[in-house]
Amino acid sequence: MEAMHAQSRFVPMPVSRPPGEAIPTAAPDPRPPYRHEPVLLAEVVAHAPPQARLIVDGTLGGGGHAAALLQHLPQAELFGCDRDPEAVAAARTLLAPYAARILLKHLPFSALPHHLLADSVDYLLLDLGLSSHQVDTAARGFSFTHDGPLDMRMDPAREGPTAATLVNDAPPEALRDLLQRFGEERFASRIVAAICAARAEEPLTTTGALARVVAQAVPGKHHRRGFHPATRVFQALRIAVNDELRELERLLAVVPHLLAPGGRVAVISFHSLEDRMVKEAFRAWEQPCTCPPSMPACVCGKVPLGRRVTRKPLTAGSTEAAANPRSRSAKLRVFERAAGGEATTDPAPARHR
Ligand SMILES: C[S@@+](CC[C@H](N)C(=O)[O-])C[C@H]1O[C@@H](n2cnc3c(N)ncnc32)[C@H](O)[C@@H]1O
Repeated sequence: MEAMHAQSRFVPMPVSRPPGEAIPTAAPDPRPPYRHEPVLLAEVVAHAPPQARLIVDGTLGGGGHAAALLQHLPQAELFGCDRDPEAVAAARTLLAPYAARILLKHLPFSALPHHLLADSVDYLLLDLGLSSHQVDTAARGFSFTHDGPLDMRMDPAREGPTAATLVNDAPPEALRDLLQRFGEERFASRIVAAICAARAEEPLTTTGALARVVAQAVPGKHHRRGFHPATRVFQALRIAVNDELRELERLLAVVPHLLAPGGRVAVISFHSLEDRMVKEAFRAWEQPCTCPPSMPACVCGKVPLGRRVTRKPLTAGSTEAAANPRSRSAKLRVFERAAGGEATTDPAPARHR
């Protein structure tokens, strides 16, 4: 693994200015404030190894989890990334008091192995999915309640399909497959038929237009209070646009090599597709032996990489669930690499279908 340790780059660059030159005042920030309440915050902090020196936050968002970890572990440095440049900017602002201990990058987390040394990370956090800020910003096109362009790219600068491209250009079979696989949508065929009829008239370009077409396609008796009928369709499109499951698969494949002995990885997921991948990866790392049960002794030679700290996922308590509805679907799983030995077993069991 090509790797680079971030240590020397944590030193902030001195700013030199000719004597007498006026210090520029900051222009007013035209952006709306970044709004996101970190979920399972106490649990994420409680599972951090107390002696952690290098924390990695692969999904910085507004920086809420990162700030709590930096406050809790004053000896630790943090490498943080997000594929959304707006999130990196927001996190940089929130984490300004810790500037000498952080290095933040605009990256997808699958690129982390290119920025970190093997066996170096004491605590790796992934808080998957979207921030409230992304969902609530209509222009990002993630929301069926705030009408906006059908975009859904977490990194708006990235070339590649938007949700509008998929909805308007994908062949019907591909669209149905996408809704079934990534949204587990039982009315996929009806919804695709309705989308194809609508797009034959004119392209669907806004989240509102798509949400209306989907709502009309789902039979009325299956509309549930508090659950928009387009929820699964929006989830499926978002996962496809951002290639979210492959991102997770690629990172999980290298996590055991990135963790320091005794290091931990904590993953918060918000839907069953991601949670299943995390659960299966952690189980395979703990029990990698592939010998048939009939074998009297192990001959495959694969040794456990560590242990599942959480055998069942941790979920939000009633107080957090009432205060932050987003936390209701959150599941936190934690794995700890064994303190001795090497992560030699092939750690790539998590495949998304
Ligand atoms: C739930 S928010 C994280 C919130 C954050 N923990 C906080 O306390 O504010 C998820 C973030 O992960 C980012 N994200 C999702 N998938 C990513 C990926 N593959 N690589 C990097 N960032 C990703 C999103 O852009 C979003 O900002």
